[in-house]
Amino acid sequence: MARRTTKAAKRSTRAAPRRAQAAKKSTRKASTKRSTARKPARRAAREPKSLHDLFHETLKDIYHAEKQILRALPKMAKAANSDELRAAFEKHRGETEGQVDRLEQVFQILGAPPKAKPCHAIMGLVEEGQEVMEEFGDSDALDAGLLAGAQAVEHYEISRYGTMIAWAQHLGLDDAVPLLEETLEQEKATDSALTELAEASVNSEGEEEDFEERRAA
Ligand SMILES: [Fe+2]
Ligand SMILES: [Fe+2]
Repeated sequence: MARRTTKAAKRSTRAAPRRAQAAKKSTRKASTKRSTARKPARRAAREPKSLHDLFHETLKDIYHAEKQILRALPKMAKAANSDELRAAFEKHRGETEGQVDRLEQVFQILGAPPKAKPCHAIMGLVEEGQEVMEEFGDSDALDAGLLAGAQAVEHYEISRYGTMIAWAQHLGLDDAVPLLEETLEQEKATDSALTELAEASVNSEGEEEDFEERRAA
């Protein structure tokens, strides 16, 4: 009995690779069938997208970016040592609320609901700002770090709005152009104000202190 069981087991072991091969073949056949069946659907999904689609996607991206900035600015204002820098962040927070509102008007012009899509660039810049606040929280260089981070954000926005204005003009979205232009002007003015602050006080103060410290050492 035991011997018969052993023989049966051996037969089964020998048959196993054959069964596995057969199963593989059948899976291959099934998957070939499946891929043929899916082809029309895939073709439909790959329909070429237009500049209008790209404009809409970029609008979702900048809408998310502005909302992130809206949340980050009060934290930056709270962290700033300089009163002028704090005031600049607070002022720009108010402007950013208006910018979000104007973007919602652009969605309306497109006949689409206001919808955000993750803007990884701004998420990265906000994260870097967070790092500066954590690592330089008790340092005299904190304001210089906050200024640098804020200017990186402004430059990103200036680039995005410049592009979107050009696309809106090309697409004949005439009502969207002045809305985007108004925001672009605010971003440029904020960037200039931050540059002035950096040149007038924060960066130069840091440099003087470093110089004094180096001379004393
Ligand atoms: Fe903005
Ligand atoms: Fe901005």
